[in-house]
Amino acid sequence: MKKTAFAVALIALGTAALAHGGVKNKDVMARMEVMKSIGDQMKIIGSMAKGEADFDAGVANAALTEIAAQSAQIQSLFESRADDPKSEALPAIWKDWTDFAHLASTAEITAEGMIGTISAEADLGPALGTLGGTCKACHSKYRK
Ligand code: HEC
Repeated sequence: MKKTAFAVALIALGTAALAHGGVKNKDVMARMEVMKSIGDQMKIIGSMAKGEADFDAGVANAALTEIAAQSAQIQSLFESRADDPKSEALPAIWKDWTDFAHLASTAEITAEGMIGTISAEADLGPALGTLGGTCKACHSKYRK
């Protein structure tokens, strides 16, 4: 179970280290920055889960708060179509907007609902798994 949660989280983090060099469209840049920052928060929780960082419930819950706040911006950041050769966003986003918007609010609501629920190290893996599932649900359809 724990292994599965890690695997999902790793898939979600995937290309988190991608550089934004060469992105010219500022709207594309803005949405990438928000995604990157969501990824950074996941990494904070992930490194605690892996034992690379000391467990700190306050820090983990703060990361969830940040993920919820950033996810709340996904819809407005993507709503009007913007393209850039460096973008990994698929055109299906704007064709299936209702579905995309729904996946964005699912991520937000899931993160929001988890704030304050991390009280022990054992809570990290399941939290990453559940949250990672919401990232993957969108990335698998709408990200190259
Ligand atoms: C509703 C859809 C959706 C959800 C939910 C979502 N993402 Fe994304 N994400 C995207 C899209 C689309 C892109 C590609 C954006 C682009 O390149 O223009 C992306 C890109 C990224 C990137 C790469 C950013 C970069 O540096 O270019 C990271 C990292 C990322 N997402 C992390 C996450 C994590 C972690 C979660 C879950 C906590 C998540 N995303 C949830 C749609 C989503």
